[in-house]
Amino acid sequence: MCAAMELRLPSGEHVLFRPLRAEDAALLGEYFTSLTRETTRFYGPHAFDQATADQLCRSINYDDTIRFVALTRVDGRERIIAYFILVLGTSESDGKRYSDVGILLDPAQDCTFAPSVREQFQNQGLGTPLFRHVIHVARRLGRRKMVLMGGVQVLNTRGIHFYEKQGFQRVGGFEGPPGIFSQDMELNLLLDS
Ligand SMILES: CC(C)(COP(=O)(O)OP(=O)(O)OC[C@H]1O[C@@H](n2cnc3c(N)ncnc32)[C@H](O)[C@@H]1OP(=O)(O)O)[C@@H](O)C(=O)NCCC(=O)NCCS
Repeated sequence: MCAAMELRLPSGEHVLFRPLRAEDAALLGEYFTSLTRETTRFYGPHAFDQATADQLCRSINYDDTIRFVALTRVDGRERIIAYFILVLGTSESDGKRYSDVGILLDPAQDCTFAPSVREQFQNQGLGTPLFRHVIHVARRLGRRKMVLMGGVQVLNTRGIHFYEKQGFQRVGGFEGPPGIFSQDMELNLLLDS
């Protein structure tokens, strides 16, 4: 699978977007620990510490989950500036919410997505081409539908705008932890978007 992509930031800096590799543990740990509450209040697929980065880099299995990282130089040092998770399947908890609104997810054909961009690079148009690449990979792997890992919080208006711009449809709303309201959204990968 050729799953890498290159692009340039508006500054002209080169960015490589590729699947996570075993040797990325230190860079991934630095990325995780750089995230502040501004991002982690909306993005929580797992803990963000060095131990988690080490564990993820030790247990890479592209048949199950592709963790994409975008790499560039920041202040002269190589840094991860985006981390996008593509799970080739769906979780029981996400599947249950969809089935409650009459949509059957198929873990063998559907996939689950969770993106994050380093704070100083958010809102500059980086997430959009990275996401288009993830869609391309998901389609090439034969996936027919993409859903959001744990939905998107309704307070995350930028996230919802971002997903709708990419063609996601709102499916159903739900309350996760008490007082945290979220929206499920799905993207039909069989349609052009
Ligand atoms: C969501 C995220 C991955 C998008 O990546 P990005 O690089 O910031 O996205 P882009 O710059 O390509 O696009 C952002 C869009 O949101 C818009 N936007 C910015 N702030 C907004 C707001 N408060 N409300 C609505 N839209 C907003 C921008 O104008 C842009 O839309 P446009 O292209 O139509 O102008 C990134 O912002 C992020 O990591 N956010 C924090 C973590 C997160 O929310 N992850 C998703 C959890 S479900």
